[in-house]
Amino acid sequence: MTDLAKAAPSVSVCRICEGAVHEFLDLGRQPLSDAFPQAGETAGEFFYRLAVGVCDGCTMVQLMEEVPRERMFHEDYPYYSSGSSVMREHFAQTARDLIRTELTGGDPFIVEIGCNDGIMLNTVRDAGIRHLGFEPSASVAKVAQDKGVRVRTEFFEESTAVAVRSTDGPADVIYSANTFCHIPYVASVLRGADALLGPDGVFVFEDPYLGDIVAKTSFDQIYDEHFFLFSATSVQAMARRFGFELVDVRRLPVHGGEVRYTLGRPGMREPTPAVAALLDAERAARLADPETLRGFAASVARVRDDLVSLLKEIKANGQKVVAYGATAKSATVANYCGIGPDLVAYVCDTTPAKQHRLTPGMHIPVKPANAFQESYPDYALLFAWNHSQEIMTKEQGFRESGGRWIHYVPDVHVT
Ligand code: SAH
Ligand code: TYD
Ligand code: ZN
Repeated sequence: MTDLAKAAPSVSVCRICEGAVHEFLDLGRQPLSDAFPQAGETAGEFFYRLAVGVCDGCTMVQLMEEVPRERMFHEDYPYYSSGSSVMREHFAQTARDLIRTELTGGDPFIVEIGCNDGIMLNTVRDAGIRHLGFEPSASVAKVAQDKGVRVRTEFFEESTAVAVRSTDGPADVIYSANTFCHIPYVASVLRGADALLGPDGVFVFEDPYLGDIVAKTSFDQIYDEHFFLFSATSVQAMARRFGFELVDVRRLPVHGGEVRYTLGRPGMREPTPAVAALLDAERAARLADPETLRGFAASVARVRDDLVSLLKEIKANGQKVVAYGATAKSATVANYCGIGPDLVAYVCDTTPAKQHRLTPGMHIPVKPANAFQESYPDYALLFAWNHSQEIMTKEQGFRESGGRWIHYVPDVHVT
């Protein structure tokens, strides 16, 4: 790299306000996070540069490069939402809450963006409420359809939303979990929401929260699918830009810390006090300041160095490490840190579509979950750290037999 290149960090155009996005973290060459090749099929892997920047206009944190959506979401997409019992309960409760608070009129209608295997709409269906899921990945959409959930196997965007408005009428709620942050074409989605929602309809979405990511150095929330890292400040700017108003926020403990945002049409609902409180907290924490984000980037490099040192030390002692959970998040960790089968023998995971394949980019073999209990390693690297409570509860035998867990959030430590 020349000195000139170093002096001119990458800049891109903001997807929200067309301002300048300034890069603050480069996680290097990365594969698709949810593409698990077969042994012998690794030559065809797709790579891109994973780097993150912040917009100096609206403060939205976003990726510098976009991966085409069809490369990520397709008929072999291997992420099945219902693999976690905690998440099944979370979404059943979410559905019950929406039914109680928003789906109260005559013949209400709810649309979900990214319904996956029907983890949320399943409960709506059981309640006999009119619903429709948009899910472009046919693998997971089919599971939802087999549960009796109504699904269109296509991307939600302006044209598909307009089509549903004309056949099904206005929606009371558009709901989306861990999907809106996957979508760089925000303008199309929000124009679609505008076309589809009734006059007092709301767009409710929940995604990983920038405040938690910075506080916990959880840089593995950054990968191809997570195009945006939302905050209340940036979501409010986005809502205003596209003709909506941020009327509620609620912090959620799932997936390492998320926020559920509610957008309404301007003037239709009074924003709750929680909105001002979270905006104030973000201002006080200087969450989107370049200095804060550069500090985050420095912490990320420290976690990488600590984790690699620990794994090398364990290897030098002749001890064995396996990983737990072939998460999309762990693609970032493994590829950024250079963790391959030399340091981690294999990864155990409950998802049949990932098993007997290799992890993206670093090619660690993926084994079924029962491989863990069949032969405990000395150390288990907890890739699925966001499900730690669920996993610790069912894997108590590991520690009882002398095994130790390696964590890297919020810093590298062993328990
Ligand atoms: N809501 C689930 C699934 C999250 S994974 C949960 O929280 O667990 C993200 C899902 O969004 C994938 O299943 C993907 O296929 C889907 N997706 C991506 N872009 C989409 C779009 N434009 N419209 C609808 N679904 C989309
Ligand atoms: P998750 O952290 O939910 O999402 P992402 O892939 O987007 O980072 O993925 C959890 C992965 O861990 C998934 O492949 C299923 C697996 N898993 C287990 O193997 N055992 C478990 O007990 C749980 C909860 C998940
Ligand atoms: Zn912007």
